[in-house]
Amino acid sequence: MQEIRQVVASEFSAVNDFIIQQLHSNVSLVENIGHYIVDAGGKRLRPLLSLLSAGAIGKIDEDHVKLAAVIEFIHTATLLHDDVVDLSDLRRGRPTANANWGNAPSVLVGDFLYSRAFQILVQIGNMPLMGLLSQTTNTVAEGEVLQLTRAGEADTDEDTYFAVIRSKTAVLFAGACSGAAILSKKDNATQQALHDYGMNLGIAFQLVDDILDYNGNPEETGKNVGDDLAEGKPTLPLIYVMKHGSPEQAAMVRNAISQKSADKLADIVAAVNESGALEYCENAALHYSDAAITALSQFDDTPYTAALRQLTKIALKRNS
Ligand code: IPE
Ligand code: IPE
Ligand code: MG
Ligand code: MG
Repeated sequence: MQEIRQVVASEFSAVNDFIIQQLHSNVSLVENIGHYIVDAGGKRLRPLLSLLSAGAIGKIDEDHVKLAAVIEFIHTATLLHDDVVDLSDLRRGRPTANANWGNAPSVLVGDFLYSRAFQILVQIGNMPLMGLLSQTTNTVAEGEVLQLTRAGEADTDEDTYFAVIRSKTAVLFAGACSGAAILSKKDNATQQALHDYGMNLGIAFQLVDDILDYNGNPEETGKNVGDDLAEGKPTLPLIYVMKHGSPEQAAMVRNAISQKSADKLADIVAAVNESGALEYCENAALHYSDAAITALSQFDDTPYTAALRQLTKIALKRNS
């Protein structure tokens, strides 16, 4: 990751400065919570995608830096809201904002970040980009709601699972990439290729995230294991166990999902490992990461495209 950031080092640092500057509010609670979650870091993967995409198709200019910050603001807003909905209490290695301040401030500061993102977009003043990112943000919200309606529903199928992760996660990756092409005034084919790259990478990324919810190390991920189970989320590892595990394993998982209970977490982690669910999910992630690489085939070989390709490998191997 460090090496990849080096490819766009100066622009990346400009994004971080711009983010800090744009967190400003006269209401101190907004700044406190905003800084709390932003200063905790995070991988800043999505802004990196905007910068590298811009580099892959031409020059990275000031508006790309702003776009990268917009994407990170939208992402951060979804995290503040997501942790309330998921009842999560650890994020980026720290207690979540909702654990520290409660749900109401987290939701409202999330709203502040969403709306700040759109204020910056107005500054950029590119109507097609506004069209893309308003659609993107709307789809992310829809994805989170679709997921909510499936919580506790053990009958959820793979297609629905993929519909959820495309909407809640992959669409923002796609917007981070294709938005750069819109700003660079590139043709539809270029926009589409970057959209496809981001979409496929985002799907792979969320697949790995859902594996890490069972076999990750909180010291590395900065998040707790078992949050998905406690929320009764029918993610792909569980869907696989219910379909291909032993009748006992399947029944145990069905129960845990419908009761929204992590009481059997250790047994379910064992079932995920023993049933072949992990391997199945890893293979699915590999498939989408390969598709992301294929989407880049029309671009010249530069340090930027090399970095975009490298990111698809990192997304698979990541433990944080
Ligand atoms: C977390 O995203 C939310 C998902 C879509 C899985 P990241 O893993 O990119 O979170 P940070 O920004 O690095 O903390
Ligand atoms: C991704 O889903 C959240 C958003 C896109 C907002 P998760 O609920 O799996 O993300 P984490 O695990 O809390 O980061
Ligand atoms: Mg969550
Ligand atoms: Mg997760």
